Amino acid sequence: MLTLRQVARLRDTLDGWRAAGQTVALVPTMGALHAGHLSLVAIARAHADRVVASLFVNPRQFAPGEDFASYPRNEAGDAAAFEAAGIDLLWAPDTAAMYPPGFALTLVPEGPALGLEADLRPGFFSGVATVVAKLFTQTGADIAVFGEKDWQQLQVIARMTADLDLRTRILSGATVREADGLAMSSRNAYLSPSQRERAAALHATLARAAAALSAGEEMAGVLDRERRHLAEVFDALDYLELRTPQALLPVTRLTGPARLLAAARLGSTRLIDNLAVAPATTSNEGTP
Ligand code: PAJ
Repeated sequence: MLTLRQVARLRDTLDGWRAAGQTVALVPTMGALHAGHLSLVAIARAHADRVVASLFVNPRQFAPGEDFASYPRNEAGDAAAFEAAGIDLLWAPDTAAMYPPGFALTLVPEGPALGLEADLRPGFFSGVATVVAKLFTQTGADIAVFGEKDWQQLQVIARMTADLDLRTRILSGATVREADGLAMSSRNAYLSPSQRERAAALHATLARAAAALSAGEEMAGVLDRERRHLAEVFDALDYLELRTPQALLPVTRLTGPARLLAAARLGSTRLIDNLAVAPATTSNEGTP
């Protein structure tokens, strides 16, 4: 496994692979790896000849007061995990290589980047879109793999890629969970043992709400009840919303596939999660 930190070296290496007719898949990360990240590497390996993983804690997607300084960093451990997972190249630029002096570009995504996380993390999707666009143009990857755990981020990146006519094809990986359903996240390390126990309620609540909605229960009633439950278990509920899967528009009647998205806090740790919601399959509508 190669580790590179300069754009010119990255370009030379990838140009060589492409000249040999090889395809390249990219897995962008901020490190602090867990099984969720490594599941994306497995998808990348199955779809391309060469796999590049990036490790860059992107300062531009952290708001002032967020955990940029304390975000868990362990490059040696991450490099070993990536190597064991079979990547070919670790792209680990420092901040000056990603954002050289004079850097003056910010992408401002709209559509799926409005609302939900954006209401609580101003500037977050601008930071994500800007760095992901750079990762795509730096690598020229044929494929890039993102996790469904960050559903809104996945939609923002898919939209941006289409809007900029980028060649990179976006693939997604299902959310990898702990035994009690908690979505794996680098930030779970911040939870105390008692917070960790309460954290499982996020997925359990989404699963119960999704089942009730799919069974045809009235939407407002289900959402009200589960919002009250989350507000009791967590220190704060940021949102529980039913949206269309890609544009993330509010759903008023469940007539097609939808996505249930939630964010809640335990102390200063924010947890997010989401689930697919299918409309009821048995319906009398249209029956003569
Ligand atoms: P990071 O939080 O490190 O996540 C890297 C990738 O792993 C993202 O695509 C994320 O959705 C995915 N991921 C995280 N937890 C997962 C889980 N439990 N199951 C499956 N996939 C999971 O997301 C970012 O970094 C950054 O915003 C980034 C896209 C790298 C841009 O800086």
